[in-house]
Amino acid sequence: MTNQTKQLSKEPYKGTRDFYPEDQFIQNYIFDVWRKVAQKYGYLEYNASILEETELYKAKSGEEIINEQTYSFTDRGGRDVTIRPEMTPTVARMIAQKRKELNFPLRWFSIPNLFRYERPQRGRLREHWQLNVDVFGIDSIEADLEIVNLAHDIVKEFGAKDEQFVIRINSRKFLNHLLNDFLRLNGEQYYQISKLLDRMHKISGKEFEEQAEEALKDKALAQAFFGIVKAKNLHELPEDLQEHESVKELLAFKEKLKARGIENTAFEISLVRGFDYYTGIIFEIYDTSPANSRALFGGGRYDDLVSIFGVEKVPGTGFGMGDVTIRDFLETYNLLPKYSPPEQLYICHLDNYLNDANILASEIRKQGVNAAVDLSDRKIAVQIKTADREKIPFILVVGEDEVKSGEFKIKNLETGKEEVIERGKIAVYINKQK
Ligand code: HAM
Repeated sequence: MTNQTKQLSKEPYKGTRDFYPEDQFIQNYIFDVWRKVAQKYGYLEYNASILEETELYKAKSGEEIINEQTYSFTDRGGRDVTIRPEMTPTVARMIAQKRKELNFPLRWFSIPNLFRYERPQRGRLREHWQLNVDVFGIDSIEADLEIVNLAHDIVKEFGAKDEQFVIRINSRKFLNHLLNDFLRLNGEQYYQISKLLDRMHKISGKEFEEQAEEALKDKALAQAFFGIVKAKNLHELPEDLQEHESVKELLAFKEKLKARGIENTAFEISLVRGFDYYTGIIFEIYDTSPANSRALFGGGRYDDLVSIFGVEKVPGTGFGMGDVTIRDFLETYNLLPKYSPPEQLYICHLDNYLNDANILASEIRKQGVNAAVDLSDRKIAVQIKTADREKIPFILVVGEDEVKSGEFKIKNLETGKEEVIERGKIAVYINKQK
């Protein structure tokens, strides 16, 4: 290397994270909870490549994702390729591919890493992992109910209380009816108003009204619109809107969730969801603390996605939950587990006893205890310090006396307690202390 060479950066690529062991420990914990709850409901795990043909996202993912957020390139064979920004198009493609062989209804889940070219900020990165849980082949709200029930169970499994999060609910069917039939908006107005609704709580009331008037170009229409968006619950909507099947469906949905003990739900008229493929109930889970203003989960029903591949329609519904936002949430509420390494025992040794230490470690591992041997020739005190820093709970030292007597002093580094244990009983002793 010459002096002119630019120093290589030690930082990970912008918006991505390195997972040092203590971070990976948290990541594994989050994935374990996700997997455990999904499997509790009978969901099967699937996966796919991170690369897809760009075409896949053009059909139904939505303009923002495609034009601004994808990592796309042309491969050496001239194909347009995109690193997956979400999993739903992939799973829909997989379902379409085996449409005839699969045994519907399906309950599937996956934990893919996804890439979106976003401005990195709290809760938003360029690479995140996202639990995807979806049901295929059920067109009634029973599937949506199960999906929300499962999402709720996940947050509870992490130890959260109902008052710490809220499930916001809306319906694409309702929004379509409101904007197309009730307010009779044209295509451009529909587009502008949906984008504006999405920003409703991010801009001031005055800005919202100004932008709505500009998009609608009609004061009376704008007034009618402002009246409707004030609705904090479904009963506050105009009566003729309440008669629509989509509102009745939302009411039934809320009632049925309540019957299952899920009461932290709220109708949210500004909930639009960014993707074009949603067709029915949509939802997002939000932390109620202002520290985390991003959705923890988002999802909804998409009945027309599988059929874009030219196969018979397969209704789908599901959600995605990101690792970044849930981690922020768990940190805010002090719900993250304390780090502990996989090793239960660290075996230190005096000069010339490394071989004996390794033989002992093999015996102990065979009996089901995770044991690591210090491979250095440092002083005992330094070896023990390593174990302490690594937060390994137990240590023992191998030397002449121990090898001869077959007895080892096992020390608990947290409590300082020491006990002399026979060689053959070390594993049982350690497992008992857990
Ligand atoms: P989404 O709302 O784009 O939905 O993402 C779902 C969740 O993933 C978000 O609520 C958030 O927790 C996390 N997330 C999304 N983007 C980022 C990011 N840049 N950085 C960190 N976390 C992020 C979907 O992706 C749908 N495909 C979900 C779905 C599955 N709908 C039906 N089935």
